[in-house]
Amino acid sequence: MNICIIGCGSIGRRLARALENMDEVENIHFIERKKEKVEALAEEIAKVKYADDFEDILEKCQLVVETASQGAVKEYVPKALEKGKDVVVMSIGAFVDDDLREKCKLLAKQNNCKIYFPSGAICGIDGLSAASTEEIEEVILISYKSPKALKDLKYFAKQGIKLGDIKKPKVVYEGFARDAVQHFPKNVNVAATIAIAGLGFERTRVKIIVDPKATRNTHRLIVKSKSGEIESWTTNLPFPENPRTSYLAALSVISAVKKIIGNVWVGA
Ligand SMILES: NC(=O)c1ccc[n+]([C@@H]2O[C@H](COP(=O)([O-])OP(=O)(O)OC[C@H]3O[C@@H](n4cnc5c(N)ncnc54)[C@H](O)[C@@H]3O)[C@@H](O)[C@H]2O)c1
Repeated sequence: MNICIIGCGSIGRRLARALENMDEVENIHFIERKKEKVEALAEEIAKVKYADDFEDILEKCQLVVETASQGAVKEYVPKALEKGKDVVVMSIGAFVDDDLREKCKLLAKQNNCKIYFPSGAICGIDGLSAASTEEIEEVILISYKSPKALKDLKYFAKQGIKLGDIKKPKVVYEGFARDAVQHFPKNVNVAATIAIAGLGFERTRVKIIVDPKATRNTHRLIVKSKSGEIESWTTNLPFPENPRTSYLAALSVISAVKKIIGNVWVGA
């Protein structure tokens, strides 16, 4: 099969390296603003090709994987779905936009194709998703961040919070996902994944804790439901090629694509 990857950044490149040795994958066509990035990768991986026309390349591809930006989701995902192509979306934060989310869901239904969201930087989405087929009482995402990871956010100036003055773990935000993603854009992908898998943006609770001793980003997911309680902790190491991305998030898209292409799917 031929795959189109949108975005030849840290995640897109790692995915291409993982697909390089998969016999099922014939060609990997990249849509990327910076052509030189694709050209450099094509020197390493023979299957990699630069694509300058998305609509043209769509005709040749069976799967589209977005690993670029929220802007790229808006620009390319509806077009791919209109053509009946399955799409894997990494910049899931784009789907905070209700209109875009509903439009894409409708296009996928009309054109008989699928939108896949990898679990990204958080564990427990499988359980949340199963629990959400019946009643869920509460979903809470608690993120523990170092002051460094939150610096430059306007939210703290508005609240009169000085991150440098925090000497022990302190709750700096408590609210619902819809509001949280406006103030903490770096949390947007994780919050959106949980909200879409469970109770939605208006009912998913988010708490941000600043921990001056934290050296990693930790996410704790708590689900209370009719089927029992789930609690997961994910402590993420940064991805070496891009410290703003969690290592596990980069691996989650590889795992998702392998499930889609392969014959065995654990955790479906
Ligand atoms: N779901 C999750 O949990 C999760 C976790 C980490 C990152 N992400 C998201 O995945 C995406 C990729 O992350 P990354 O670390 O590879 O980023 P990156 O900055 O290393 O790479 C992104 C690449 O996409 C290209 N690009 C961006 N917008 C484009 C557009 N409209 N058209 C063509 N090319 C475009 C950029 O030039 C860049 O080369 C980001 O949006 C990030 O927020 C999601």
